[in-house]
Amino acid sequence: TFVVTDNCIKCKYTDCVTVCPVDAFFEGDNFLVIDPDICIDCALCVPECPADAIFQDTHLSDEQKPFLQINAELSKVWPNIIELKAAPEDADEWNGVSNKLPYLQP
Ligand code: SF4
Ligand code: F3S
Repeated sequence: TFVVTDNCIKCKYTDCVTVCPVDAFFEGDNFLVIDPDICIDCALCVPECPADAIFQDTHLSDEQKPFLQINAELSKVWPNIIELKAAPEDADEWNGVSNKLPYLQP
């Protein structure tokens, strides 16, 4: 499966959802996740993300590994998202900021 990681938090550009052939993205207030039971490993979403936040589960750094479980759990409770929406106004300011996990709104 592919996994949405730290740099999506507070960026949430949503470009990723427009290319997913199986609608595997789910939306929280300031983060998106991928449902590992839906993702077909096509990798189409990876180059779409302006924040470079999407990685294959087998290629996660130690800092990114907690996001495997975060995606699996939150995708079961958050609503599906299939259409592009406006990013937060300050998304570009948060792009590249490290360790945003404390800001994740579950
Ligand atoms: Fe969707 Fe493919 Fe990305 Fe999985 S890898 S979330 S199937 S676009
Ligand atoms: Fe997040 Fe990148 Fe999608 S910032 S919402 S994973 S385009």
